[in-house]
Amino acid sequence: MADEPLVLGIETSCDETGVGIVRGTTLLADAIASSVDEHARFGGVVPEVASRAHLEAMVPTIERALTEAGVTARDLDGIAVTAGPGLAGALLVGVSAAKAYAYALGKPLYGVNHLASHICVDQLEHGPLPEPTMALLVSGGHSSLLLAPDITADVRPMGATIDDAAGEAFDKIARVLDLGFPGGPVIDRLAREGDPEAIAFPRGLTGPRDPAYDFSFSGLKTAVARWIEARRHAGEEVPVRDVAASFQEAVADVLTRKAVRACQDEGVDHLMIGGGVAANSRLRAMAAERCERAGIRLRVPRPKLCTDNGAMVAALGAEMVARNRPASDWELSADSSLPVTDPHVPGGPHPGRVHDHDHVHEISKDNLYS
Ligand code: KG4
Ligand code: ZN
Repeated sequence: MADEPLVLGIETSCDETGVGIVRGTTLLADAIASSVDEHARFGGVVPEVASRAHLEAMVPTIERALTEAGVTARDLDGIAVTAGPGLAGALLVGVSAAKAYAYALGKPLYGVNHLASHICVDQLEHGPLPEPTMALLVSGGHSSLLLAPDITADVRPMGATIDDAAGEAFDKIARVLDLGFPGGPVIDRLAREGDPEAIAFPRGLTGPRDPAYDFSFSGLKTAVARWIEARRHAGEEVPVRDVAASFQEAVADVLTRKAVRACQDEGVDHLMIGGGVAANSRLRAMAAERCERAGIRLRVPRPKLCTDNGAMVAALGAEMVARNRPASDWELSADSSLPVTDPHVPGGPHPGRVHDHDHVHEISKDNLYS
């Protein structure tokens, strides 16, 4: 609807330069420039390479998003940007760009949390999020179970990985199997032709005395690597498809088991899954099966909205505007370890101060963006 906030969101926390535009909970544009190919030969994201790629991609990606949405920068009601967590240098490029556009255009600036954005993006696919929402976020950088009574102001950690992120485990196992980077998509594909019960790999932190909602993938990773090594040492062929399927089964089993349990314990009757690993076909299928059995409604955005993108930042920014949250001030800075409990970042030394945007508009109108 025309009276809903029109917000542009910028995401640069890792290797994706994402610029999205939404109106309320409607997606208008989702432009992405990825530097993933530039990192492939290193087997992981190189921060300096990512920062430079963001710098080069920023303006063209913003222009592309505006064209795709059929709006001009002047039409926007606000500019949102990932303030953290993520790679410090990469975040800084996005925050600087967002500040420059917001200042020049006289628009309010909203520094938002990357993890809360991963949750909020589901509004673009399935409509307003019920409150509270239980969310399982699984990607190359994070694996957490979060309870969000209010996505703009109150996000509570239930559990997190104590070592590797789920996506990191996929990437490391793919490296051991010489399958390239990133590992998730190729393991997913090979696993479809393998037997998930061929090898009984360990399920980390599932003992009776273990923390109920925390994850651990490093033991699984070591067990898979040792299993492969033993076959190679004995001169036997490694059944790559069975290894991929059995490894993937162990990850999906632990993630879905703990997420469903958290919903039941907290009396939450729906679960959202986000982050790059939410694209995994077995995780999606197992979650659907277990949620249905437990009477829990499952919400998983389409894969393009699960991986890092600008639309998710715009979605959370629009929610901030809709709920009259204060804009961030011009001291807003990137915070590489921004806690998940801060969905919204007010700014620098004067948290909560609302900037005088009318004044900024005066400057911009005449001098900066005309
Ligand atoms: O959310 P994302 O794009 O970036 C981060 O914030 O990390 O997630 C990337 C991660 C990588 O580790 C990648 O291997 C994993 O998500 N991934 C998958 C699949 N597609 C991407 N993991 C398992 N199955 C997939 N289909
Ligand atoms: Zn992410």
